[in-house]
Amino acid sequence: MAEKEYTETSEAQIAVHWGEEGYYMPSVKFIAQANMTDETIYDRFSLDNFPNCYKEYADMLDWYEYWDEILDTSDAPCFKWFKGGKINACYNCVDRHLDEYKNKTAIHFVPEPIEEGYQHITYQELFVRVNEFAALLRDFAGLKRGDRVTLHMPMVPELPITMLACARLGVIHSQVFGGFSGRACADRIVDSGSRVLITTDAYYRSGSLIDHKQNADIAVDLAGKDGQTVDKVLVWQRYPGKASSSTPMADGRDYFVNDVLKDYYGARVEPEKMNAEDPLFLMYTSGTTGKPKGCQHGTGGFLAYTAGTSKYVQDIHPTDVYWCMADIGWITGHSYIVYGPLAIAASSVVYEGVPTYPDAGRAWRIAQDLGVNIFHTAPTAIRALRKIGPDEPVKYNYEFKHMTTVGEPIEPEVWKWYYEYVGKKKAAIVDTWWQTETGGFLCSTIPAIKPMKPGSAGPGMPGIHPIVYDDEGNEVEPGKGIAGNICIQNPWPGMFQTIWGDRDRFVDTYFARYCKDPKSTNWQDWPYMTGDAAVVAEDGYVRILGRIDDVINVSGHRLGTKEIESAALVVEEVAEAAVIPVAHEIKGKEPDLYVSLKPGYEATDELAKKVSDTISSEIGKIAKPRKVWIVKDMPKTRSGKIMRRVLAAISNNKDEGDVTTLANPEIVEEIKKMVQG
Ligand code: WT7
Repeated sequence: MAEKEYTETSEAQIAVHWGEEGYYMPSVKFIAQANMTDETIYDRFSLDNFPNCYKEYADMLDWYEYWDEILDTSDAPCFKWFKGGKINACYNCVDRHLDEYKNKTAIHFVPEPIEEGYQHITYQELFVRVNEFAALLRDFAGLKRGDRVTLHMPMVPELPITMLACARLGVIHSQVFGGFSGRACADRIVDSGSRVLITTDAYYRSGSLIDHKQNADIAVDLAGKDGQTVDKVLVWQRYPGKASSSTPMADGRDYFVNDVLKDYYGARVEPEKMNAEDPLFLMYTSGTTGKPKGCQHGTGGFLAYTAGTSKYVQDIHPTDVYWCMADIGWITGHSYIVYGPLAIAASSVVYEGVPTYPDAGRAWRIAQDLGVNIFHTAPTAIRALRKIGPDEPVKYNYEFKHMTTVGEPIEPEVWKWYYEYVGKKKAAIVDTWWQTETGGFLCSTIPAIKPMKPGSAGPGMPGIHPIVYDDEGNEVEPGKGIAGNICIQNPWPGMFQTIWGDRDRFVDTYFARYCKDPKSTNWQDWPYMTGDAAVVAEDGYVRILGRIDDVINVSGHRLGTKEIESAALVVEEVAEAAVIPVAHEIKGKEPDLYVSLKPGYEATDELAKKVSDTISSEIGKIAKPRKVWIVKDMPKTRSGKIMRRVLAAISNNKDEGDVTTLANPEIVEEIKKMVQG
């Protein structure tokens, strides 16, 4: 035990004690209107019918040229879907809806300040704005098919407009979460090789207008130092024509989009006929090492999978008003605010601010005002809303037919509040388990077919065949109550194609451990390792227990411990850093940071603050530690490894186990006194 590094498995064992909950049935009313009620879908998508089953999703899209090979495995595990097909994602999300829906809202924008009211962008307006901006990107910024462009934008309608304009041109967008720092943005600019950065001058968050342009200056400066020149920064304005940021514009580099757009009034851009397997976008996510991974998502496969799952799992009809509260800067927003919903002509809500601003009723007023009937959010938001206003939802007159939870395991108690209070016992709930890498849902119930079970995501999606392995690679049978590493036996169209520029890391991280033959071109030999621990019940429902690697899930988002530790090491005085997850009532987990100092430096509150601030500026506020503990020494094994398991036990007030074999067991008591008082 002593030589073993800390993993989340101990956490996982605790989670097993949740026990299996009883089923909840969807209402007759929901089933009567649902998009998918045919139970034979599970047979149609069985392993025997793989991969041809996915034709059903591909046929939800319009193709310039129909594909001739559904799955090309010749370069396994870099799988290519719908080979030979030609398609454009923007055309599928915008143009093709104009005949029937041009006057229907595509995007309901909700600014955070209440007095600004609502904006309703129709499909026609979306078409116009996307075309004009695509013309600008092509003719003014010189972007063309295959180029990468970094976006660092908040939750404003210009973000989906920018993404769709890129998709129209075949330009690969890489949107960086708006709350990330200039440094984090710079790293992604460099890795993706972007020479254009698209940003916004300012946005609202919790009542203040935040100067966002300053991050662009930092990002461009740092990217330049790392060898990637950004020659144009395109700045959308929160209030067109009005300065909302005091950060100056760099002459010949920075341009206000509104000014330049005037030259493109009325412009129309022919959508590029992309190969199905051409990349559509990159989405960076944290891994076990410091460097974030650029998950590369393809065009045809990604769009088919998100359209299909938006229809069957989200149950979106063109007449619904669908609100996913996630940020478009994460994969959830790409798949289930923008591409999936718009591909099937949804009306999708984009909310700028925080759900609890200015009070606990805001989210429910938005739902009531817009007539939202499909609601999608994460356990962290549900916990926050429940905490500050448990009786708020019943005061408002909205009616949800369907609700989603995503991002981390949801405690059955929180699930039940969501069901009873937010859904008013009328909404069907889906707990969707998936990842940045997977593009779309892996496990979930199909809401009108399978009952709900609090705390369980449900069975594998149609066409997704999970399998749980133990550390030796033996299958753990369902119903045994034993946790293991959950993998997916087969590829699927939404799956990422590779890590941008690093195929080896892609293979190593996700396939090497359980690959049956590294030379094989059979998909059967390449189970996909998700990195999560899970238990599968007898009924095939999957309960996710958390990550097995060094990744902390904070508010439903992955932060690499190495990433945070390297940020801490930027501080001159810091010699060693170790990050561990601490349970948090609302965020699920929070990082606790332990640092030791170089000789000659003294532990002070100022220094702890400096370390904490550095993490905010290097990564973003989301990574800010709960507490920075400056310790004399780290608990270490005799071989010199930091014992994160021991630190985690101390931070979480748990038994630290046997520490007698450590190189320095006496430090444990000392740290314990400091942390636990
Ligand atoms: C990790 C992926 C999927 C979009 C948001 C997060 C955890 C995700 C669930 C769920 C339990 C979940 C997993 C996964 N996770 N959804 N419904 N139940 N855990 O994307 O940042 O790539 O994180 O989030 O641990 O591996 P991400």
